[in-house]
Amino acid sequence: MNMQIPNAPVLDPLETASIDELRQHQLQRLRWSLSHAYQNVPMYRQRFDELGVHPDDIRSLDDLARFPFTCKADLRDNYPYGLFAVPLHDVVRLHASSGTTGKPTVVGYTQNDINTWANVVARSIRAAGGRRGDKVHVAYGYGLFTGGLGAHYGAERLGCTVIPMSGGQTEKQVQLIRDFQPDIIMVTPSYMLNLADEIERQGIDPHSLALRLGIFGAEPWTPELRSALEARLGIEALDIYGLSEIMGPGVAMECAESKDGPTVWEDHFYPEIIDPVSGAVLPDGELGELVFTSLSKEALPMIRYRTRDLTRLLPGTARPMRRIDKITGRSDDMLIIRGVNVFPTQVEEQLLKIKQFSEIYEIHLYRKGNLDSVDVHVELKSEHQHLDPARQQDLCSELSRHIKTHIGISSHVVLQPAYSIKRSEGKACHVFDKRK
Ligand code: DLL
Repeated sequence: MNMQIPNAPVLDPLETASIDELRQHQLQRLRWSLSHAYQNVPMYRQRFDELGVHPDDIRSLDDLARFPFTCKADLRDNYPYGLFAVPLHDVVRLHASSGTTGKPTVVGYTQNDINTWANVVARSIRAAGGRRGDKVHVAYGYGLFTGGLGAHYGAERLGCTVIPMSGGQTEKQVQLIRDFQPDIIMVTPSYMLNLADEIERQGIDPHSLALRLGIFGAEPWTPELRSALEARLGIEALDIYGLSEIMGPGVAMECAESKDGPTVWEDHFYPEIIDPVSGAVLPDGELGELVFTSLSKEALPMIRYRTRDLTRLLPGTARPMRRIDKITGRSDDMLIIRGVNVFPTQVEEQLLKIKQFSEIYEIHLYRKGNLDSVDVHVELKSEHQHLDPARQQDLCSELSRHIKTHIGISSHVVLQPAYSIKRSEGKACHVFDKRK
């Protein structure tokens, strides 16, 4: 008998297709995407011609490796609309990321693109354990950033009740979380920490809230931070990955049943891992730079876009599609300290070993003579604020020792009063590099 389980998720056919079916679908979509880019975007036509490659040459997915890369500078050089593959009157939405220097990167969507995006985010929320009827508090920023509106459309598509809070107004956020009792929160992990502090400050027992699921992303975060957030809030914390150039949130999503790194929605976004120096494609399992080719995007096709994110491709578990390992960081965020390569997440990993410290930290870099110096600013949790000074000093030395042993750099740990380090309202800024 074919029994219907109430509220059981219905997966997209391609989410569970066999690998052969999936690869066949990808090959077809790849041919379309390459020729769409070639026919409609002068930069792609010129680059393909220069390299002597043509969309018709694609016989297998491996042939993609012969095509040129695209990078952030290409978007800037063609600012604002030069890489769009459809007339502007077919573009129904723009987003942009501010970037640290100069011009923002602008991305555009047709109505079909918006539909695809809503579908992959709905699929992501469902993979995380969200269901029709759940209330979803969206605290990713609304506006030019893709986080807020991306999460919003996806949650609506799944049939959830959306609370479109955006970032900021932390006190009010917590009031609404208490009053509206959302089941799910979508926010950066660093802003979730800020909200958790505010929940405690308002004397609310986090376990009395209806929240059962956090869908966290937009910045690197460690498994240690996942455990800390889950314990503090009594929720499941799952990782959502994405980037504006490829779509926004929902390019990949961790599945509730395996919690082992985001599954790439490969029917829309074809992943490769390359050696960041030589550009050579690396086999699955090897660490390198993640590259995506859009397979269905109309307004802004992206061919072999270099994300700068460092990770590896892993075999599928909860779904046949491949996963990415937790992102260690972006190559642009990598610090070189006295010749050692360091990602801020490595410091986070060591910090969270010491239970008396809060999860908030800053890394300050400066020069002493010709040498790099590192200060790691941390706080005691409020319940440990009155530890005696000798014990406080011991904890600082312990952290410094962990950093030396596991990362290989000497650092000075600076203990600040509880709540004195600036909190994030979106993507956290952990590094203050004053060496230049
Ligand atoms: O951050 C899209 C997004 C919004 C993803 C909300 C998830 C949730 P951008 O502002 O273009 O887009 O930044 C993209 O953020 O290349 C990564 O470096 C980083 N990033 C995004 N998600 C994760 C994640 C959005 N789960 C850049 N883990 C990406 C680590 C992430 N880094």
